[in-house]
Amino acid sequence: MGRIIAITNQKGGVGKTTTAINLAAALAMADMRVLVVDTDAQANCTSGLGIDRSTLRKSIYHAMIFNDPVREIMLSTELENLSILPADKNLTGAAIEMIEMPEREFVLKRILTPVAPDFDYVLIDSPPSLNILTLNGLVAAQSVLIPIQCEYFALEGISDLFETLRRVQYSFNRGLSVLGILLTMYDERTNLSAQVRQDLKNYFADKMLATVIPRNVRLAEAPSFGKPIILYDIRSRGAEAYINLAKELLNHAKEGLGSRSGSPDP
Ligand SMILES: Nc1ncnc2c1ncn2[C@@H]1O[C@H](COP(=O)(O)OP(=O)(O)O)[C@@H](O)[C@H]1O
Ligand SMILES: [Mg+2]
Repeated sequence: MGRIIAITNQKGGVGKTTTAINLAAALAMADMRVLVVDTDAQANCTSGLGIDRSTLRKSIYHAMIFNDPVREIMLSTELENLSILPADKNLTGAAIEMIEMPEREFVLKRILTPVAPDFDYVLIDSPPSLNILTLNGLVAAQSVLIPIQCEYFALEGISDLFETLRRVQYSFNRGLSVLGILLTMYDERTNLSAQVRQDLKNYFADKMLATVIPRNVRLAEAPSFGKPIILYDIRSRGAEAYINLAKELLNHAKEGLGSRSGSPDP
């Protein structure tokens, strides 16, 4: 398993940001050093980790566009092992500003390279589109985690996503692997959730992660307090699920030791 993980699905509202925040926090609680990279102009990941956007001087935008040192932009969070490279709404314009840049697909990879060795995990939260910022995340990552919301149109857009992944692997990042598909907002009381889960199992087989994230109102409340779920309500089912997800990934990583060369350089 790769250490730099992009959390990607071009659909909005599927649980990317919730997963970035809470998986990162659960990994940090397990003594991993974790960096969350917010590449969405909406900056929900940034505020969800307790960063007041109105006081931010610089963001990932300044690192990507002006080459400001990432180390000076990274911020610590309430959890000791968890840092964030924050986003702000300047990122909205980044896609256009990057059009003229040489090697514009590699900007994020380039700025993360000096700091990535300081962390056990780097989690990249992606925007809800397949734009150049998303592409940058997939080029910088070693693997991709795909949250899919348990709903009727769950599979809609997934073939476009896999087509993008193939394109990235072919052109920019041969080592990119699919870490797994994560079922989110699962409601065990509904037949629909069970049906969607079965469909996804049939379709993706071994790509499905064993951990399933339940629909849990505490997960939806936590960001308004700027806290990951483990600090907001550790006893909730949402906290339990993200702790289990962290354990599953840590086990993958242990099993994968030595069986895979780490370098995804294209
Ligand atoms: N497991 C869950 N249970 C309940 N609400 C959730 C859950 N996961 C996400 N949400 C809520 O759903 C909305 C979309 O989630 P979010 O993580 O922002 O998705 P994305 O980043 O893919 O757009 C948010 O309001 C979030 O709080
Ligand atoms: Mg989001």
